[in-house]
Amino acid sequence: MITGANKGIGHEVARQLAAKGFHVFVGARNAKAGHKAADEIGKKCGKATFLEIDVADNDSVATAMREFSNIEDHLDVLVNNAGIIVDGDDAILEISDELFRKTLETNTLGPLRVTRAFAPSLRKSEAPRVINVSSGGGQLSDGADGWAPAYCISKTALNGVTVQLAAALPKFAVNSVCPGWVRTDMGGENASRSVEEGADTIVWLASEAPQDVTGKFLRDRKEIPW
Ligand SMILES: NC(=O)c1ccc[n+]([C@@H]2O[C@H](COP(=O)([O-])OP(=O)(O)OC[C@H]3O[C@@H](n4cnc5c(N)ncnc54)[C@H](OP(=O)(O)O)[C@@H]3O)[C@@H](O)[C@H]2O)c1
Repeated sequence: MITGANKGIGHEVARQLAAKGFHVFVGARNAKAGHKAADEIGKKCGKATFLEIDVADNDSVATAMREFSNIEDHLDVLVNNAGIIVDGDDAILEISDELFRKTLETNTLGPLRVTRAFAPSLRKSEAPRVINVSSGGGQLSDGADGWAPAYCISKTALNGVTVQLAAALPKFAVNSVCPGWVRTDMGGENASRSVEEGADTIVWLASEAPQDVTGKFLRDRKEIPW
């Protein structure tokens, strides 16, 4: 199950995993866009089912979980991909509480609440995997450059969610991924990577990586500093 799979990196991850034979659940908050994406992936690549899910809304996540369990008895891979960037070049002292809360609600709490809701189905998998789509912007090791502080802090905190989940769920593989700078609505047309390149490490972790790779932050299939 991939959140925010109606477009961008999430859509490409769903497409590639369907082509590998997964029954893919195309998570999207917009029903029309989600249905369209699932139909398109289903026709071209394999089995895809639309699942309406707004990761910023507990009721929506609970409903999505119920719908999922009516169709499948277990979940092998959860990709927490949905994300927003609300701030641009706003300086840290200029961010409103509202903007900061909205960003954390989706980018940080969203992945935690979706993992919590889907954990019972993941536990029934032989090798459950959770992949949190983070960003190099959340790295503390190189220091911040001042760009999009609320977004970057939300990804730093998401990485905290990843290590806590990895510690709490030893049977699971739980990792953070930086996809690089990718040409999507979020990344813009000048970004250096295609969606295929951006999806690569996520798809690898979902399907091929050893199950004992957990609690890590990765880009290009390699560990990177937090
Ligand atoms: N592109 C980059 O350069 C880049 C770099 C580093 C990390 N990332 C991360 O990669 C992930 C995917 O980004 P992208 O570039 O593919 O962005 P994108 O094209 O803007 O797609 C974002 C997706 O997230 C969905 N979404 C946002 N809020 C949601 C919510 N509350 N509930 C459900 N879905 C929601 C969007 O749905 P709607 O269509 O309804 O808005 C859309 O499907 C994000 O987590 C982002 O932070 C991207």
